[in-house]
Amino acid sequence: MKNRTKLLTSGLVFLAGAALCSAAPVAENWDNHCAKCHGADGKGQTKVGKKLKLKDYTDAKVQAELKDEDMIKATADGVRDSAGKETMKGYKDELSADEIKELIAHIRKFKT
Ligand code: HEC
Repeated sequence: MKNRTKLLTSGLVFLAGAALCSAAPVAENWDNHCAKCHGADGKGQTKVGKKLKLKDYTDAKVQAELKDEDMIKATADGVRDSAGKETMKGYKDELSADEIKELIAHIRKFKT
């Protein structure tokens, strides 16, 4: 009986933990999925970022040229260059629509 209670308790703790972790905080998502190219600071000055000529998200002009809908679409479906080669993969299988929206809001905050 004692053991069952213990098992039940640890099961509940696990469930609570899983519920809390199901949507990762936006900063964590940025660091895990996006920063290796776009940079922790959004400037795109990483090794890969420089090679791919990423836009600088701290630049107000760059931000002004980007529409939220396009950014959401790019993050969900990915980005291709003019030759049709995929330069950024889509994240719709890994991130929820809400997580993607939060990431776009996160990008907006890089503007200086
Ligand atoms: C493999 C490198 C790489 C990773 C990882 C990456 N991107 Fe990109 N991203 C690119 C490239 C390349 C472009 C196209 C060039 C540009 O717009 O700077 C781009 C463009 C974008 C754009 C602009 C699309 C437009 O409308 O111009 C957004 C928004 C974006 N990425 C968001 C993200 C988010 C959010 C993540 C993480 C979930 C992410 N990226 C991860 C390489 C990457």
